[in-house]
Amino acid sequence: MPIATKQDLNVFESIDKHDIWQKSSVLQPPRYRTEEEVIMKVLEVRGLSKSFNYRGKPLRAVDDVCLNIAPGEVVAFLGSNGAGKTTTIKMIAGLVKPDKGWVQIAGFNPHQNQQAFKELGVVLEGNRNLYWNFTPIQNLEYFGMLKGLKRRAVHNNAIELLERFDLLAKARTQVQHLSRGMQQKLAIAVALIHQPKLLLLDEPTLGLDVEASENIKILLSELVREGYAILLTTHQLDVAEELSNRVVIIHQGRIITEQPTYEIIQQFSGSGYTIKIERALESGEIRVLEALGAVIRSNQDIYIEDLEGFYNLLEKLKPLPIIKVEKEQADLTQVFLKITRGKRDVSTISN
Ligand SMILES: Nc1ncnc2c1ncn2[C@@H]1O[C@H](COP(=O)(O)OP(=O)(O)OP(=O)(O)O)[C@@H](O)[C@H]1O
Ligand SMILES: [Mg+2]
Repeated sequence: MPIATKQDLNVFESIDKHDIWQKSSVLQPPRYRTEEEVIMKVLEVRGLSKSFNYRGKPLRAVDDVCLNIAPGEVVAFLGSNGAGKTTTIKMIAGLVKPDKGWVQIAGFNPHQNQQAFKELGVVLEGNRNLYWNFTPIQNLEYFGMLKGLKRRAVHNNAIELLERFDLLAKARTQVQHLSRGMQQKLAIAVALIHQPKLLLLDEPTLGLDVEASENIKILLSELVREGYAILLTTHQLDVAEELSNRVVIIHQGRIITEQPTYEIIQQFSGSGYTIKIERALESGEIRVLEALGAVIRSNQDIYIEDLEGFYNLLEKLKPLPIIKVEKEQADLTQVFLKITRGKRDVSTISN
Protein backbone atom coordinates (compact mmCIF):
# COMPACT_ATOMS: atom_id res chain seq x y z
CA MET A 1 0.00 0.00 0.00
CA PRO A 2 1.51 3.40 -0.97
CA ILE A 3 2.22 5.72 1.92
CA ALA A 4 0.61 9.16 1.75
CA THR A 5 2.81 12.19 1.88
CA LYS A 6 2.38 14.66 4.73
CA GLN A 7 0.73 17.03 2.30
CA ASP A 8 -1.78 14.36 1.20
CA LEU A 9 -2.74 13.69 4.78
CA ASN A 10 -3.20 17.33 5.65
CA VAL A 11 -5.42 17.72 2.66
CA PHE A 12 -7.41 14.69 3.63
CA GLU A 13 -7.89 15.61 7.26
CA SER A 14 -8.65 19.28 6.85
CA ILE A 15 -10.50 18.97 3.61
CA ASP A 16 -12.36 22.07 2.69
CA LYS A 17 -14.55 21.32 -0.26
CA HIS A 18 -14.84 24.97 -1.28
CA ASP A 19 -11.08 25.13 -1.43
CA ILE A 20 -10.45 22.04 -3.37
CA TRP A 21 -9.88 23.35 -6.84
CA GLN A 22 -8.46 26.66 -5.83
CA LYS A 23 -5.18 24.96 -4.96
CA SER A 24 -3.83 23.06 -7.90
CA SER A 25 -1.81 20.84 -5.55
CA VAL A 26 -4.95 19.28 -4.03
CA LEU A 27 -6.70 18.31 -7.24
CA GLN A 28 -5.50 14.73 -6.84
CA PRO A 29 -7.24 12.45 -4.34
CA PRO A 30 -5.17 11.46 -1.32
CA ARG A 31 -3.51 8.06 -1.11
CA TYR A 32 -4.94 6.03 1.74
CA ARG A 33 -2.52 5.23 4.51
CA THR A 34 -3.74 1.88 5.73
CA GLU A 35 -5.58 -1.17 4.48
CA GLU A 36 -8.34 -0.30 6.94
CA GLU A 37 -8.80 3.10 5.35
CA VAL A 38 -9.17 1.47 1.92
CA ILE A 39 -11.78 -0.93 3.33
CA MET A 40 -13.81 1.74 5.13
CA LYS A 41 -13.79 4.27 2.31
CA VAL A 42 -15.53 2.24 -0.34
CA LEU A 43 -16.54 5.50 -1.96
CA GLU A 44 -15.15 8.93 -1.40
CA VAL A 45 -16.15 11.91 -3.51
CA ARG A 46 -14.91 15.45 -3.06
CA GLY A 47 -15.89 18.70 -4.76
CA LEU A 48 -17.43 17.00 -7.77
CA SER A 49 -18.77 19.50 -10.30
CA LYS A 50 -20.09 19.36 -13.83
CA SER A 51 -21.58 21.94 -16.16
CA PHE A 52 -23.31 21.28 -19.44
CA ASN A 53 -23.88 23.64 -22.26
CA TYR A 54 -27.51 24.70 -22.33
CA ARG A 55 -28.52 27.07 -25.16
CA GLY A 56 -25.03 28.49 -25.34
CA LYS A 57 -24.75 29.03 -21.57
CA PRO A 58 -23.17 26.75 -18.95
CA LEU A 59 -25.70 24.88 -16.81
CA ARG A 60 -24.32 23.70 -13.46
CA ALA A 61 -25.74 20.19 -13.21
CA VAL A 62 -23.55 19.16 -10.25
CA ASP A 63 -21.89 21.66 -7.97
CA ASP A 64 -19.32 20.78 -5.32
CA VAL A 65 -20.72 17.39 -4.32
CA CYS A 66 -19.00 15.47 -1.51
CA LEU A 67 -19.95 11.95 -0.41
CA ASN A 68 -18.57 9.07 1.65
CA ILE A 69 -19.86 5.50 1.86
CA ALA A 70 -18.63 2.71 4.13
CA PRO A 71 -19.24 -1.05 3.70
CA GLY A 72 -22.78 -2.15 4.59
CA GLU A 73 -24.06 1.39 4.27
CA VAL A 74 -26.93 2.42 2.02
CA VAL A 75 -27.03 6.07 1.12
CA ALA A 76 -30.29 7.28 -0.38
CA PHE A 77 -29.31 9.96 -2.86
CA LEU A 78 -32.50 11.94 -3.31
CA GLY A 79 -33.50 14.91 -5.38
CA SER A 80 -36.20 16.21 -7.68
CA ASN A 81 -36.06 15.66 -11.44
CA GLY A 82 -32.99 17.35 -12.87
CA ALA A 83 -31.34 17.80 -9.45
CA GLY A 84 -28.08 16.19 -10.63
CA LYS A 85 -28.30 12.60 -9.32
CA THR A 86 -27.65 10.73 -12.56
CA THR A 87 -24.86 13.10 -13.57
CA THR A 88 -23.19 12.49 -10.18
CA ILE A 89 -23.58 8.73 -10.53
CA LYS A 90 -22.13 8.81 -14.04
CA MET A 91 -19.12 10.76 -12.79
CA ILE A 92 -18.61 8.25 -9.97
CA ALA A 93 -18.87 5.43 -12.50
CA GLY A 94 -16.22 7.06 -14.71
CA LEU A 95 -18.72 7.65 -17.54
CA VAL A 96 -18.82 11.45 -17.40
CA LYS A 97 -15.67 13.45 -16.81
CA PRO A 98 -15.98 15.92 -13.93
CA ASP A 99 -14.99 19.53 -14.47
CA LYS A 100 -13.65 19.61 -10.92
CA GLY A 101 -13.25 17.37 -7.92
CA TRP A 102 -12.37 13.70 -7.59
CA VAL A 103 -13.75 10.23 -6.93
CA GLN A 104 -12.11 7.27 -5.23
CA ILE A 105 -13.56 3.77 -5.16
CA ALA A 106 -11.77 1.63 -2.58
CA GLY A 107 -8.77 3.88 -3.09
CA PHE A 108 -8.82 3.94 -6.90
CA ASN A 109 -9.78 6.85 -9.11
CA PRO A 110 -12.15 5.53 -11.82
CA HIS A 111 -11.00 8.28 -14.18
CA GLN A 112 -7.40 7.14 -13.95
CA ASN A 113 -7.26 3.55 -12.80
CA GLN A 114 -9.17 0.58 -14.24
CA GLN A 115 -8.78 -1.19 -10.91
CA ALA A 116 -11.65 0.99 -9.61
CA PHE A 117 -14.09 -0.93 -11.84
CA LYS A 118 -13.28 -4.23 -10.11
CA GLU A 119 -14.90 -2.82 -7.00
CA LEU A 120 -17.84 -1.18 -8.75
CA GLY A 121 -21.22 -2.46 -9.98
CA VAL A 122 -23.58 -0.03 -11.69
CA VAL A 123 -27.23 -0.11 -12.69
CA LEU A 124 -27.89 3.01 -14.71
CA GLU A 125 -31.21 4.78 -15.08
CA GLY A 126 -33.41 3.29 -17.81
CA ASN A 127 -33.00 0.02 -19.64
CA ARG A 128 -29.62 0.16 -21.30
CA ASN A 129 -27.78 -1.98 -18.79
CA LEU A 130 -28.22 -5.23 -20.72
CA TYR A 131 -27.86 -6.60 -24.24
CA TRP A 132 -31.42 -7.28 -25.32
CA ASN A 133 -30.55 -9.94 -27.88
CA PHE A 134 -28.53 -11.88 -25.32
CA THR A 135 -30.03 -14.26 -22.78
CA PRO A 136 -29.53 -13.66 -19.04
CA ILE A 137 -26.71 -16.19 -18.86
CA GLN A 138 -25.00 -14.64 -21.87
CA ASN A 139 -25.28 -11.17 -20.36
CA LEU A 140 -23.86 -12.35 -17.05
CA GLU A 141 -20.99 -14.22 -18.71
CA TYR A 142 -20.20 -11.38 -21.10
CA PHE A 143 -20.07 -8.69 -18.41
CA GLY A 144 -18.27 -11.01 -15.99
CA MET A 145 -15.49 -11.68 -18.51
CA LEU A 146 -15.30 -7.98 -19.30
CA LYS A 147 -14.58 -7.46 -15.61
CA GLY A 148 -11.71 -9.91 -15.87
CA LEU A 149 -13.24 -13.07 -14.37
CA LYS A 150 -12.16 -16.50 -15.64
CA ARG A 151 -14.73 -18.50 -17.63
CA ARG A 152 -15.38 -21.07 -14.90
CA ALA A 153 -15.70 -18.47 -12.12
CA VAL A 154 -18.00 -16.33 -14.20
CA HIS A 155 -20.21 -19.31 -15.04
CA ASN A 156 -20.47 -20.37 -11.39
CA ASN A 157 -21.28 -16.82 -10.26
CA ALA A 158 -23.84 -16.47 -13.04
CA ILE A 159 -25.71 -19.63 -12.03
CA GLU A 160 -25.63 -18.62 -8.39
CA LEU A 161 -27.04 -15.18 -9.17
CA LEU A 162 -29.74 -16.56 -11.48
CA GLU A 163 -30.82 -18.92 -8.72
CA ARG A 164 -30.77 -16.23 -6.10
CA PHE A 165 -32.72 -13.74 -8.23
CA ASP A 166 -35.22 -16.43 -9.24
CA LEU A 167 -34.27 -16.16 -12.91
CA LEU A 168 -32.95 -19.66 -13.56
CA ALA A 169 -36.05 -20.69 -15.53
CA LYS A 170 -35.41 -17.75 -17.89
CA ALA A 171 -31.65 -18.25 -18.14
CA ARG A 172 -31.87 -18.96 -21.88
CA THR A 173 -34.65 -16.55 -22.89
CA GLN A 174 -33.61 -13.39 -24.72
CA VAL A 175 -33.71 -10.37 -22.42
CA GLN A 176 -36.16 -8.56 -24.71
CA HIS A 177 -38.73 -11.27 -23.89
CA LEU A 178 -38.41 -10.91 -20.12
CA SER A 179 -40.76 -8.81 -18.01
CA ARG A 180 -39.58 -5.38 -16.88
CA GLY A 181 -39.15 -6.65 -13.31
CA MET A 182 -37.04 -9.61 -14.50
CA GLN A 183 -34.91 -7.32 -16.65
CA GLN A 184 -34.30 -5.07 -13.68
CA LYS A 185 -33.37 -7.98 -11.42
CA LEU A 186 -30.99 -9.20 -14.13
CA ALA A 187 -29.44 -5.73 -14.39
CA ILE A 188 -28.68 -5.88 -10.66
CA ALA A 189 -27.34 -9.45 -11.02
CA VAL A 190 -25.03 -8.27 -13.82
CA ALA A 191 -23.79 -5.46 -11.59
CA LEU A 192 -22.93 -8.09 -8.95
CA ILE A 193 -21.26 -10.66 -11.22
CA HIS A 194 -17.71 -9.74 -10.17
CA GLN A 195 -18.63 -9.31 -6.48
CA PRO A 196 -17.78 -5.61 -6.24
CA LYS A 197 -17.77 -3.65 -2.99
CA LEU A 198 -19.83 -0.71 -4.20
CA LEU A 199 -23.16 -0.67 -6.03
CA LEU A 200 -24.51 2.43 -7.74
CA LEU A 201 -28.21 1.98 -8.36
CA ASP A 202 -29.97 4.72 -10.30
CA GLU A 203 -33.71 4.23 -9.85
CA PRO A 204 -33.68 0.43 -9.69
CA THR A 205 -37.45 0.18 -9.10
CA LEU A 206 -38.55 2.69 -11.75
CA GLY A 207 -41.60 1.50 -13.67
CA LEU A 208 -41.99 -1.73 -11.70
CA ASP A 209 -45.29 -2.91 -10.28
CA VAL A 210 -45.75 -3.19 -6.52
CA GLU A 211 -44.69 -6.83 -6.33
CA ALA A 212 -41.62 -6.51 -8.55
CA SER A 213 -40.58 -3.42 -6.63
CA GLU A 214 -41.04 -5.29 -3.34
CA ASN A 215 -38.87 -8.15 -4.69
CA ILE A 216 -36.07 -5.74 -5.55
CA LYS A 217 -36.37 -4.15 -2.12
CA ILE A 218 -35.96 -7.55 -0.45
CA LEU A 219 -32.96 -8.40 -2.64
CA LEU A 220 -31.32 -5.08 -1.85
CA SER A 221 -31.83 -5.48 1.89
CA GLU A 222 -30.10 -8.89 1.65
CA LEU A 223 -27.17 -7.31 -0.17
CA VAL A 224 -26.88 -4.67 2.53
CA ARG A 225 -26.74 -7.36 5.22
CA GLU A 226 -23.91 -8.98 3.25
CA GLY A 227 -21.88 -5.77 3.50
CA TYR A 228 -22.30 -4.17 0.08
CA ALA A 229 -22.10 -0.39 0.07
CA ILE A 230 -24.96 1.06 -1.98
CA LEU A 231 -25.61 4.49 -3.41
CA LEU A 232 -29.28 4.45 -4.28
CA THR A 233 -31.27 7.04 -6.14
CA THR A 234 -35.01 6.63 -6.18
CA HIS A 235 -38.18 8.67 -6.27
CA GLN A 236 -39.89 5.92 -4.27
CA LEU A 237 -39.20 7.38 -0.88
CA ASP A 238 -40.72 4.44 0.99
CA VAL A 239 -37.99 2.27 -0.61
CA ALA A 240 -35.35 4.82 0.41
CA GLU A 241 -36.73 5.05 3.93
CA GLU A 242 -36.73 1.31 4.41
CA LEU A 243 -33.30 0.60 2.96
CA SER A 244 -31.10 3.55 3.73
CA ASN A 245 -28.91 4.38 6.73
CA ARG A 246 -28.31 7.87 5.51
CA VAL A 247 -30.12 10.38 3.33
CA VAL A 248 -28.33 12.83 1.06
CA ILE A 249 -30.53 15.37 -0.70
CA ILE A 250 -29.28 17.15 -3.79
CA HIS A 251 -31.06 20.26 -5.01
CA GLN A 252 -30.07 22.15 -8.14
CA GLY A 253 -26.75 20.36 -8.18
CA ARG A 254 -25.80 21.07 -4.57
CA ILE A 255 -26.10 18.87 -1.52
CA ILE A 256 -28.48 20.60 0.86
CA THR A 257 -28.95 17.87 3.50
CA GLU A 258 -27.01 14.89 4.74
CA GLN A 259 -28.22 13.03 7.82
CA PRO A 260 -28.89 9.53 9.13
CA THR A 261 -32.33 8.43 7.91
CA TYR A 262 -33.64 7.68 11.40
CA GLU A 263 -32.52 11.06 12.72
CA ILE A 264 -33.94 13.10 9.90
CA ILE A 265 -37.32 11.39 10.28
CA GLN A 266 -37.28 11.96 14.04
CA GLN A 267 -36.32 15.58 13.52
CA PHE A 268 -39.40 16.15 11.39
CA SER A 269 -41.72 14.03 13.53
CA GLY A 270 -43.89 15.53 16.22
CA SER A 271 -43.72 14.44 19.84
CA GLY A 272 -47.47 13.96 20.28
CA TYR A 273 -49.71 10.89 20.47
CA THR A 274 -53.21 10.20 19.20
CA ILE A 275 -55.37 7.76 21.12
CA LYS A 276 -58.50 6.34 19.55
CA ILE A 277 -61.13 4.92 21.85
CA GLU A 278 -63.99 2.60 21.04
CA ARG A 279 -66.94 4.82 21.88
CA ALA A 280 -67.78 8.52 21.72
CA LEU A 281 -66.71 10.56 24.73
CA GLU A 282 -69.30 12.18 26.94
CA SER A 283 -69.08 15.90 27.71
CA GLY A 284 -67.99 15.27 31.35
CA GLU A 285 -65.17 13.02 30.14
CA ILE A 286 -64.08 15.59 27.56
CA ARG A 287 -63.77 18.25 30.29
CA VAL A 288 -61.55 15.97 32.41
CA LEU A 289 -59.29 15.15 29.49
CA GLU A 290 -59.03 18.75 28.32
CA ALA A 291 -58.00 19.76 31.82
CA LEU A 292 -54.99 17.44 31.32
CA GLY A 293 -54.02 19.29 28.13
CA ALA A 294 -55.58 16.84 25.69
CA VAL A 295 -57.11 18.04 22.44
CA ILE A 296 -60.26 16.21 21.44
CA ARG A 297 -60.05 15.91 17.66
CA SER A 298 -63.27 14.00 17.26
CA ASN A 299 -65.46 12.32 19.82
CA GLN A 300 -63.21 9.27 19.64
CA ASP A 301 -59.75 10.73 18.85
CA ILE A 302 -57.73 12.33 21.62
CA TYR A 303 -54.44 14.10 20.96
CA ILE A 304 -51.83 14.80 23.61
CA GLU A 305 -48.60 16.70 23.06
CA ASP A 306 -45.97 14.84 25.11
CA LEU A 307 -45.11 11.52 26.73
CA GLU A 308 -45.81 12.58 30.33
CA GLY A 309 -49.24 13.89 29.34
CA PHE A 310 -49.83 10.65 27.47
CA TYR A 311 -49.30 8.53 30.60
CA ASN A 312 -51.49 10.84 32.70
CA LEU A 313 -54.16 10.56 30.07
CA LEU A 314 -54.01 6.77 30.04
CA GLU A 315 -54.73 6.76 33.79
CA LYS A 316 -57.84 8.88 33.25
CA LEU A 317 -58.99 6.86 30.28
CA LYS A 318 -59.09 3.64 32.28
CA PRO A 319 -61.21 1.51 31.77
CA LEU A 320 -62.32 2.92 28.38
CA PRO A 321 -61.40 0.47 25.61
CA ILE A 322 -58.57 1.85 23.44
CA ILE A 323 -58.56 0.83 19.77
CA LYS A 324 -55.34 2.48 18.61
CA VAL A 325 -52.40 4.53 19.88
CA GLU A 326 -50.27 6.36 17.31
CA LYS A 327 -47.17 8.49 17.66
CA GLU A 328 -46.97 11.48 15.36
CA GLN A 329 -44.40 10.25 12.88
CA ALA A 330 -43.20 11.86 9.69
CA ASP A 331 -42.24 9.75 6.70
CA LEU A 332 -39.43 10.40 4.28
CA THR A 333 -41.82 11.81 1.66
CA GLN A 334 -42.98 14.55 4.06
CA VAL A 335 -39.40 15.22 5.14
CA PHE A 336 -38.19 15.45 1.55
CA LEU A 337 -40.96 17.83 0.52
CA LYS A 338 -40.40 20.08 3.54
CA ILE A 339 -36.67 20.26 2.91
CA THR A 340 -36.79 20.83 -0.82
CA ARG A 341 -39.69 23.30 -0.69
CA GLY A 342 -38.44 25.34 2.22
CA LYS A 343 -34.78 24.47 2.12
CA ARG A 344 -33.62 27.82 3.52
CA ASP A 345 -35.27 27.01 6.87
CA VAL A 346 -33.55 23.69 7.42
CA SER A 347 -30.74 23.66 9.92
CA THR A 348 -28.88 20.83 8.20
CA ILE A 349 -28.24 22.84 5.07
CA SER A 350 -24.55 22.59 4.43
CA ASN A 351 -24.11 25.83 2.56
N1 LIG B 1 -25.59 15.18 -21.43
C1 LIG B 1 -26.20 16.28 -21.02
N2 LIG B 1 -26.21 17.41 -21.75
C2 LIG B 1 -26.80 18.54 -21.32
N3 LIG B 1 -27.45 18.64 -20.14
C3 LIG B 1 -27.49 17.55 -19.36
C4 LIG B 1 -26.88 16.31 -19.75
N4 LIG B 1 -27.10 15.40 -18.76
C5 LIG B 1 -27.81 16.04 -17.81
N5 LIG B 1 -28.04 17.32 -18.16
C6 LIG B 1 -28.74 18.31 -17.35
O1 LIG B 1 -28.18 18.30 -16.07
C7 LIG B 1 -29.20 18.46 -15.07
C8 LIG B 1 -29.15 17.29 -14.10
O2 LIG B 1 -29.60 16.13 -14.77
P1 LIG B 1 -29.60 14.68 -14.10
O3 LIG B 1 -29.95 13.70 -15.17
O4 LIG B 1 -28.31 14.49 -13.41
O5 LIG B 1 -30.77 14.83 -13.03
P2 LIG B 1 -31.43 13.72 -12.10
O6 LIG B 1 -31.33 14.23 -10.70
O7 LIG B 1 -30.88 12.38 -12.38
O8 LIG B 1 -32.97 13.83 -12.53
P3 LIG B 1 -34.09 12.67 -12.66
O9 LIG B 1 -34.67 12.49 -11.29
O10 LIG B 1 -35.09 13.28 -13.60
O11 LIG B 1 -33.47 11.43 -13.19
C9 LIG B 1 -30.50 18.61 -15.82
O12 LIG B 1 -30.79 19.97 -15.97
C10 LIG B 1 -30.21 17.98 -17.16
O13 LIG B 1 -30.99 18.53 -18.17
MG1 LIG C 1 -31.69 10.65 -13.08
